[in-house]
Amino acid sequence: MTQRTILVTSALPYANGPLHLGHMLEVIQTDIWVRFQRLCGHHCRYVCADDAHGTPIMLRARDEGISPEALIARIYGEHLRDLQRYAIAMDNFYTTHSPENRHFAELIYTRLKEGGFIANREIEQSFDEAAGMFLPDRFIRGTCPRCRTPGQHGDSCESCGATYNPMELLDAVSVLSGTPPVLRRTEHYFVRLAAFEAMLRQWLEQANVQEAVRHKLMEWFAVGLADWDISRDSPYFGFEIPGTVGKYFYVWLDAPIGYMASFQNLCTRLRELDFAAFWGADATAELYHFIGKDIIYFHCLFWPAMLHGAGFRTPSGVFAHGFLTVDGQKMSKSRGTFIEAQLFAQHLDPQMLRYYFASKLSAAVEDIDLNLDEMLERCNADVVGKLVNIPARLAPFLERHSGGLLSPVSPDDPLWARVQGAARQLAQHYEAREYAAVVRLVMACADQVNQFIQEQAPWRLEKQGAIQQVQQVASLGIQCFRLLVLYLKPIVPHLAAEAERFLQIEPLRWHDAGLPLGDHVIQPYSALARRLERAAVQRLRDAAQAQGGQDKKNAPGQVEPAASGPGDGQDYIDIQDFGRIDLRVARILEAAVVPESSKLLRLMVDLGTEKRQIFAGIKGAYQPETLVGRLCVIVANLKPRAMRFGVSEGMVLAAGDDGPGIFLLSADSGAEPGMRVR
Ligand code: 2FM
Ligand code: ZN
Repeated sequence: MTQRTILVTSALPYANGPLHLGHMLEVIQTDIWVRFQRLCGHHCRYVCADDAHGTPIMLRARDEGISPEALIARIYGEHLRDLQRYAIAMDNFYTTHSPENRHFAELIYTRLKEGGFIANREIEQSFDEAAGMFLPDRFIRGTCPRCRTPGQHGDSCESCGATYNPMELLDAVSVLSGTPPVLRRTEHYFVRLAAFEAMLRQWLEQANVQEAVRHKLMEWFAVGLADWDISRDSPYFGFEIPGTVGKYFYVWLDAPIGYMASFQNLCTRLRELDFAAFWGADATAELYHFIGKDIIYFHCLFWPAMLHGAGFRTPSGVFAHGFLTVDGQKMSKSRGTFIEAQLFAQHLDPQMLRYYFASKLSAAVEDIDLNLDEMLERCNADVVGKLVNIPARLAPFLERHSGGLLSPVSPDDPLWARVQGAARQLAQHYEAREYAAVVRLVMACADQVNQFIQEQAPWRLEKQGAIQQVQQVASLGIQCFRLLVLYLKPIVPHLAAEAERFLQIEPLRWHDAGLPLGDHVIQPYSALARRLERAAVQRLRDAAQAQGGQDKKNAPGQVEPAASGPGDGQDYIDIQDFGRIDLRVARILEAAVVPESSKLLRLMVDLGTEKRQIFAGIKGAYQPETLVGRLCVIVANLKPRAMRFGVSEGMVLAAGDDGPGIFLLSADSGAEPGMRVR
């Protein structure tokens, strides 16, 4: 095998809001590819960053009454938390508001200028006199000049699809001040993109891009490449353009440069990477960008042109994917289908989302639909019903008869040969980002293993006393399971790690597909994956709906001015933070003392759709039997906590501090278990 050196990126999420499942679709797709490359022994680095500049970030910070730096620092923490929660194995997650990014943005700009690729001229732009700033098109609203639908954005009409210049809108107003914008002249800086056409055509000939992307680029070449406006006027949150006053790099100029800056930061941290081998004009490393289909223009035209014009290498490939739809429609806050990554992870196992997305992803530039019911059925049927079912059924036989020792498996065994023979094809599918094909083939193998178990019926053999055969059947099944785990490892890395512990093996590598385990003892089986519960899916839906409702109330234009807030001594949370706490009415079904604890009672509560065990520190105030039948209020989405006496699946709300001075919060009679508390 020739060892490859690869650098991979995902598009940089904006630092003005939480990651949602659309972002997760992209980073999961990238992460699976990266993990596969690493599994094969290639040197594969994966970097990303927050896209921290631009007008929306500046204005959001202003709305919140904080500095843009404080806003992007907070969002950075949230993004990092979510990426870790979904097992996204980035080597570096950085920010475009960094010294490295300033350095490279200035360097690239200066080199482009020296090469004669920068032009400057005056343009006319919409200006909000009340707010004292130029307006991006999205910040102007008015009536569509074509179909007369009111409330349309400054660049296009959502109703009839017309695209226009914002000043063509009828009754145009600035969303910032509500006053009509005026036209004002201002000097802007441009990259002369047409100068790169020949170079871009050449790049396209050898770059790894999808056919659909290639076609799109050919269309753009045919229309002609226009100059690209790379400057914005003050006030703007970004980097000031060298040699100018009050002119800033447009966020899209320094965003892709963020890939380089993040990698440079990684080089500085690790001290073992050669930046030039990845980014120099003669770089030997491969470079791939995973992006959404809406930003192809930036990555396949502007970006290679900038890199080339500034003496850097160009990307080896750009992989574009479609959008995420939910239940067949664009994600929508008001419909409750705009699901934040954090919210999903509070209710369901992120690893199952990885599996579900993989089962639907191909290399095509197509939208992917998330249907929560389908996800539940697919994950339960495949991961639990087919995959984990194998060791769950077989390991107990080995525990009973051989202390977990596997009997040898012949490499010529037909079942082993079939499962082992899939490795080659699977590697091709992974490399080509055909993950749905990976999942189909692995599940076809799992079906064969399950069918083998059914036919051999080790439970019958055991009754007949054919113990050696029992061991052989169970061992073969477990050996095949090891391969299936290896095959799915890039998709469900946590499950794979659990399975490696159960099998008592070193972390699996792709070449392990070659041989079965020799003389080997495995651990007793304990559950490797849990079924997704319908009630949990419903809770997620309700929570997304509730969050959507809150966000709608807080939509721009209706935001209350920050009359008070951080700075007045109070540690505020916003309404969205509050909306994330799933408070429910519950009925106490059972209450018992926990003998080992001086404070705790063990409660069993009815939540309407399910029962929960909760340990509550109210022993000092209540006799257990007086609680049975009472309505109380619980935090239903508190992460389950393993305690010495069992798992606590929520928290019962009570007022007071300790001992007898504790007062359980309750709902008036008439409230039903499961009702949301707001
Ligand atoms: O479209 C977006 O969400 C951008 N923040 C993506 C930037 S990708 C790269 F070029 F930085
Ligand atoms: Zn219209």
